[in-house]
Amino acid sequence: MANGNTNTERVATGISGLDLMLTGGIPATNQVLVAGGPGAGKTMLCFEVLYHNAKQGIPSLFVTLEEDPQDVLKNVKSAFTDFTDIDELVEKKALKVTSSFVPVGSIGSDQLELISAFQKIVSSIEGSINEMHAKCVAIDSLSLLKLVSTEGDALTYRRALLGLMASLRKLNVTALLTIEMKSLERKDIEFSQEFFIFDGILVMYQSESQEKRTLNLEVVKMRRTGHSLSFAPYEITSKGFRVFTVEQDSY
Ligand SMILES: Nc1ncnc2c1ncn2[C@@H]1O[C@H](COP(=O)(O)OP(=O)(O)OP(=O)(O)O)[C@@H](O)[C@H]1O
Ligand SMILES: [Mg+2]
Repeated sequence: MANGNTNTERVATGISGLDLMLTGGIPATNQVLVAGGPGAGKTMLCFEVLYHNAKQGIPSLFVTLEEDPQDVLKNVKSAFTDFTDIDELVEKKALKVTSSFVPVGSIGSDQLELISAFQKIVSSIEGSINEMHAKCVAIDSLSLLKLVSTEGDALTYRRALLGLMASLRKLNVTALLTIEMKSLERKDIEFSQEFFIFDGILVMYQSESQEKRTLNLEVVKMRRTGHSLSFAPYEITSKGFRVFTVEQDSY
């Protein structure tokens, strides 16, 4: 495995197999894309990373752009039954699940209206980060921003993404941003040019062998650290993600 840079300040994901793949965690302030097909576990993975960080006293914010925050909490609590202190962390304001407060359904297709809607979403996210001094942030998902920043207009989308990333960078947060791919199969997952503006890319996909289907996780890129070049099977359990990596604990 490539060497980790031991001098880099890191945000551990708290998922031991994934931290091994990242030689200790995500370099602090990196902006990481979490890409995968429908139901791969993107929302769950981001939530779990924030949960572990909140437990360490690092204020962590989950911004859902697609679901009701209460539904997200209900779902993660029913999946991760061993995480019995979620409500306590929310009460202590170490962990927050919020939406962006922009009614996306009401946005028209006019270019100026779209840009203004997008700016409102970004300011709303900035406001939530500032309010709790969040250090670790998940945005679930960017698929919606793509819709908001005009369908099929790659340049507007790229500009919108850059605007969001500049704002997150200014706030010095470590960020996970999910994006839904059309397929669960690795061979169908391609990263268009716009995705390489991120500091890191994690991809979650499904493999099929003769008897069973396995879910796999891969670190496609991660700036400022060495990382695993292998893919690792994973499971979602009541105790959180289990990532079966080939890496040994060497950092
Ligand atoms: N309550 C639950 N109990 C057990 N496992 C669950 C539960 N909820 C979800 N899961 C597991 O998590 C997976 C879905 O996770 P998640 O919602 O994070 O996926 P996603 O990639 O965000 O999907 P989408 O593209 O629909 O947003 C399910 O396929 C299932 O394996
Ligand atoms: Mg999801």
